[in-house]
Amino acid sequence: MSYPKIEGASLLARFLTPEVFDALKDRETYFGVRLEHLIASGIQNPDSAIGVYAGDEESYEVFAPLLDPIIAAYHGFGPEDRHASDLDPAHLEVENPDPEGRFVLSTRIRVARNLCCFPFGPVIDRRERRMAERAIVRALSTLPGELAGEYQPLSAMDEATKKQLVEAHLLFKAEDRFLEAGGFNRDWPDARGVFMNKARTFLVWLNEEDQLRIISMERGADLKSVFSRLARALKLLEARLTFAYSERLGYLTSCPTNLGTAMRASVHIRLPHLAEDEVKAIARAHGLQVRGTHGEHTEAEGGVYDVSNKRRLGVTEVEAITQLAKGVQALIQAAG
Ligand code: ARG
Repeated sequence: MSYPKIEGASLLARFLTPEVFDALKDRETYFGVRLEHLIASGIQNPDSAIGVYAGDEESYEVFAPLLDPIIAAYHGFGPEDRHASDLDPAHLEVENPDPEGRFVLSTRIRVARNLCCFPFGPVIDRRERRMAERAIVRALSTLPGELAGEYQPLSAMDEATKKQLVEAHLLFKAEDRFLEAGGFNRDWPDARGVFMNKARTFLVWLNEEDQLRIISMERGADLKSVFSRLARALKLLEARLTFAYSERLGYLTSCPTNLGTAMRASVHIRLPHLAEDEVKAIARAHGLQVRGTHGEHTEAEGGVYDVSNKRRLGVTEVEAITQLAKGVQALIQAAG
């Protein structure tokens, strides 16, 4: 492989210098991950913000000369820093930022997880993906009470159901071109699916961008309730599954933006009387990210924004949610 031409302003384009390329071009991880796996998506999608995905846990060590600068630029997290996790809801001291329900439609907190010692999306094969699915579904089937639910494999779902679930924000969209280029969508829809509790306040997506996306959500702005449900589920699942974790980088995910807490805490907030630029400026000042109504790479419809923590590494889960609560308060204040 010779030095590729990388278009666009992604972090990949910024940090894959000819020197870094030369140092990494012949390296390979235990699962056979090579530099071309990491960079395929950013090369095929010049509008990438980041442009790389890790193919396994070891990628973060083997390809550190490329990934560390990307991690530092995105999270402000240096090679000497150590991540710490705090998933204890008793430590979360936030009030409901919108108790009257005037602005916040819903609150959703998700974390990404991968199984320890398994390859990630870019190189996992059909058999390994099915093994992961089986192990995860088995663990999910033991969840009690409010968390108990059912697993629906994507392959057994009809088009109308899929569409309905995607629109209700309960299911991932297929054909993400960033993931497609990264090799994640091979054998689609085999071993992909969604687990949902009855109330649809607790869901787990299987084998999409990460092996697990564990989601707690409900109407309104009760961050503490949403976080408590998530923390309860995580504790039970961690007793049955071992997740990919690093002392330095926290929970390991295929996308470097998700490392650490691997958590995105978000609200859907309706702010029809604030200009989009103003929403974005206030959010940015509070370390938050704004997405469209239907999530990443979509537009805001009817003044409804998806606002979430940008930084996931080098902050605890409790800190990130506190940051969200403060930003949401500021947005509500500005909206009058
Ligand atoms: N790979 C895409 C990019 O670089 C998405 C990055 C963040 N989003 C995500 N779903 N991991 O722009």
